[in-house]
Amino acid sequence: MGVPVPERLADDGMAAGPFLKWAGGKSQLLAQYAPLFPAERPARYFEPFVGSGAVFFYLRGRDFAGSYTLWDVNAELINVYRAVRDEVEAVIALLAAHRDAHAADGRGHYAAVRALDRQPGWPESLPPAARAARMIYLNKTCYNGLWRVNSRGHFNVPPGRYRNPPILDAGRLRAAAAALQGVDLAVRDFRTVVDEARPGDFVYFDPPYVPLSPTASFTSYAREDFGESDQRALADVFRTLDRQGVRVMLSNADAPLVHELYRGFRIEIVQARRAINSRAARRGPISEVVVLNA
Ligand SMILES: C[S@@+](CC[C@H](N)C(=O)[O-])C[C@H]1O[C@@H](n2cnc3c(N)ncnc32)[C@H](O)[C@@H]1O
Repeated sequence: MGVPVPERLADDGMAAGPFLKWAGGKSQLLAQYAPLFPAERPARYFEPFVGSGAVFFYLRGRDFAGSYTLWDVNAELINVYRAVRDEVEAVIALLAAHRDAHAADGRGHYAAVRALDRQPGWPESLPPAARAARMIYLNKTCYNGLWRVNSRGHFNVPPGRYRNPPILDAGRLRAAAAALQGVDLAVRDFRTVVDEARPGDFVYFDPPYVPLSPTASFTSYAREDFGESDQRALADVFRTLDRQGVRVMLSNADAPLVHELYRGFRIEIVQARRAINSRAARRGPISEVVVLNA
């Protein structure tokens, strides 16, 4: 194992971390993941389901790899990362305006901002920084931080009931911007990682999870659901990368289908706190798996 590298700090000394609320955020699992990451420095790090990026920010802060590539099928999310990387001060100024408009008329402002994706010409109708500020504003003020779009791609989550939502955290955004410098970002499907990764690279997959009970449905983060055929395709991608000599790590639910799909690989169990069930009594520690090929 190499010499530990100090955490990468932004100008104001804040360590970078997720700045969006996102279903399945991994912040609380990082201590359990730490011993599972490769000890040898990978040439390149790939994270095809980046979400709120908890694992990326953690590894980036430790100067883990030679380069970083982050993908997601959610185009609004990737636009947020690009705008924070390339023009964070513009995003901050626009969020300050959202914060003030929200303080004056929360419901009215939320409705107007949510409706922007119904405009003709969306998403080109807004410049990237404004699109990013819209998504961050909606993420902070909508019900439960959910990101859900209908079949026409229109964001349709109702407003949350927050007294004082943290619409703008400039320090956190600047720290994220520093961490994102030089990072490659793309709207891409996870399947295409087999065309990119080579021996010496490390790929971390955090897909939408297999539902735990037959009554729970597969989740919809973007326009397409992530169903059993996607889970099977992901297991094929995992196997292909393994054969290509790429180091691979994957998170998923501790469900029978997951054990079946990754039979033969190392499977570690970690404990998460998750609100997996709408009934409060079912909330509490729940086991999840991490699949590794080394
Ligand atoms: C469980 S979340 C990732 C959570 C993230 N690691 C975190 O810490 O917040 C899964 C992500 O996969 C994305 N996604 C869904 N289907 C995808 C696909 N086919 N290819 C790439 N990303 C996809 C979703 O948009 C979502 O952001």
